[in-house]
Amino acid sequence: MIKNLIVFGTRPEAIKMAPLVKAFEANNNNFETKVCITAQHREMLDQVLDFFEIIPDFDLNLMKPNQNLYSLTADIILSLKSILEDFNPDYVYVHGDTTTTMAASIASFYSKAKVCHIEAGLRTFNMQSPFPEEMNRSVTGVIADFHFAPTTTSRNNLRLENKNENTIIVTGNTVIDALFFSVSKVKEADFFSEEIQQVEKILDFNRKVILVTGHRRENHGQGFINICEALKEIAIANKDCQIIYPVHLNPNVQGPVYKLLSDVNNIHLISPLSYPAFVWLMEKSYLIITDSGGVQEEAPSLGKPVLVMRDTTERPEAVEAGTVLLVGTDRLKIVSETNRLLQNETDYSKMSKLHNPYGDGNACNRIVEHIIKSSAKII
Ligand code: UD1
Ligand code: UDP
Repeated sequence: MIKNLIVFGTRPEAIKMAPLVKAFEANNNNFETKVCITAQHREMLDQVLDFFEIIPDFDLNLMKPNQNLYSLTADIILSLKSILEDFNPDYVYVHGDTTTTMAASIASFYSKAKVCHIEAGLRTFNMQSPFPEEMNRSVTGVIADFHFAPTTTSRNNLRLENKNENTIIVTGNTVIDALFFSVSKVKEADFFSEEIQQVEKILDFNRKVILVTGHRRENHGQGFINICEALKEIAIANKDCQIIYPVHLNPNVQGPVYKLLSDVNNIHLISPLSYPAFVWLMEKSYLIITDSGGVQEEAPSLGKPVLVMRDTTERPEAVEAGTVLLVGTDRLKIVSETNRLLQNETDYSKMSKLHNPYGDGNACNRIVEHIIKSSAKII
């Protein structure tokens, strides 16, 4: 038996690791798989675990209000020590670029487990943007034994860093596995229907709906003030359109967003939605404005145009295809690009192309197959 430990801590890691947990569980004749959550996020992580019906074997329960990077990093490494020593996994799987990813990679390296990096090779080549994610994924890239790269662009970034060619496997992004699973559930399930009913009470889907999310650390402070001022200007100038914004629970986001946007009639601030409800809302929206990484990957698969409130992106594929546009946190640029897409149907339809640059929904099976192949000796 191969012993796997899958470690994650935040909402997006959970969404993107959930299908991998399922894929390993479906192969339990080859694998003993345990899930460890750092709970770097608490409520937003639990929403995902509930939807995918994942019960973690280890819950480090580390989130603290307004936590800082120093103590979070230290707490993760220290708390993982006994789990790694007791369970003694052959492989540890980490995802992407959060503090959980980086700290769990370091701890796993100390334990001598092989480190598998899912969503490897994304780079902006700018250590300050996104902060601290570019550093986190670069450190994990140094440690990882296997780099599961979502696209050929991410593989090429790893080649530039002289990673051994045999350790890079292009799989597609597991977020598309999660998205397809969720889209099929949205059609049949009713356990999130309460959330949908709440949203349907607020929104009139015969009018244009703009969906907004945002949380990036480098946008905290003036960036969020600019974003809120831009959203207010868009709402006031386009009385017929509606903006819905499920607000991230980070107090650095909640503070300015509720202070600056609570009193605008056609802006609706709501709590973070469960994953299937959010996917449903993406499908019903006209346009998405976000600084999220995951949303940039999902929206092209749903044919939704995205304005990205960042100056850089490690996901150039959809920008090159013309369905994602970087607008930064410049108020005027956010307003003018949004107005253009609201008012110019030709420009809107050019950006509404349905395509899947990030995967075909089979990423997790490719990861499992690769591990089985490379572990022939262990089995
Ligand atoms: C983290 C990741 C970021 C990822 C994002 C996804 C780091 C440094 N940052 O940023 O890479 O893109 O998650 O959303 O790893 N909070 C709650 N409940 C929750 C979640 C957060 O109350 O369920 C609040 C807490 O006060 C917490 C704060 O948000 O201390 C910040 O959480 P943290 O994980 O440090 O940063 P994020 O901005 O969420
Ligand atoms: N998401 C969600 N509920 C919400 C907002 C977003 O489930 O209210 C999902 C979204 O579909 C995507 C992920 O959360 O898969 C993105 O998370 P986030 O923006 O927090 O992090 P990032 O992807 O930027 O790291």
